Amino acid sequence: MRLKLRIWRQAGPDVAGKLVDYAADDVSPDMSFLEMLDVVNEGLVKKGEDAIAFDSDCREGICGMCSLVVDGIPHGPDRGTTVCQLHMRRFKDGETVTIEPWRAKAFPVVKDLVVDRSAFDRIIAVGGYCSINVGGAQDANNILIPKAVADLAMDSAACIGCGACVAACKNASAHLFVSAKISHLALLPQGQMEREKRVVAMVDQADAEGFGSCSNEGECEAVCPKEIPISNIARMTREYAKAVLASD
Ligand code: SF4
Ligand code: FES
Repeated sequence: MRLKLRIWRQAGPDVAGKLVDYAADDVSPDMSFLEMLDVVNEGLVKKGEDAIAFDSDCREGICGMCSLVVDGIPHGPDRGTTVCQLHMRRFKDGETVTIEPWRAKAFPVVKDLVVDRSAFDRIIAVGGYCSINVGGAQDANNILIPKAVADLAMDSAACIGCGACVAACKNASAHLFVSAKISHLALLPQGQMEREKRVVAMVDQADAEGFGSCSNEGECEAVCPKEIPISNIARMTREYAKAVLASD
């Protein structure tokens, strides 16, 4: 396959970037999208040019590091798929493919296609965990959790913190990410002790980081590689309202 690539190049956070054209002339349909970029980079390095910077780690849809907007869609055209698991057979020979970084005020560009997502780490750091010492592990049968509730909690815990939900949202809202973290702890017994403190701290931190509000467009759910449902946002809103009322 031959592809025409338009790739965002930006030397650093404080300089202007632009889309630059590249030809990818020897693309196998079996390559992953990131392998295709590896091959383009090998060609650039051989010519003595600066390689295109992009994030990746596991390349298995687990770590949440890959963060490319492909033809305007965070993680590309396949639903429920990270861009590291997108394959070139999804594209047509001769197609032009545009590749850009996540775009949000709270995710500033570091270089080319790499953005700084440490805002998510700071949201987790204010409450996305259990810090109560509950002693040794009890027999599992002492704390029964209905299967439907456990399934909901585990589905929420599947969030990999990639930030595609923010990149897709016209308000750059982090509500789907925060609500997934809130939900998986609010649904389980371990999360109850810090439930109210957690939701207020995490939502307030998201606001402080510059993420926007939710206006119920559903773009986040559509691009989420883990198909986290938007119903989590409704749960988070209820949790937040209850916590604020209880503190009055
Ligand atoms: S909710 Fe989905 S899109 Fe958002 S950070 Fe989690 S996995 Fe990524
Ligand atoms: S590189 Fe780990 S999820 Fe894509």
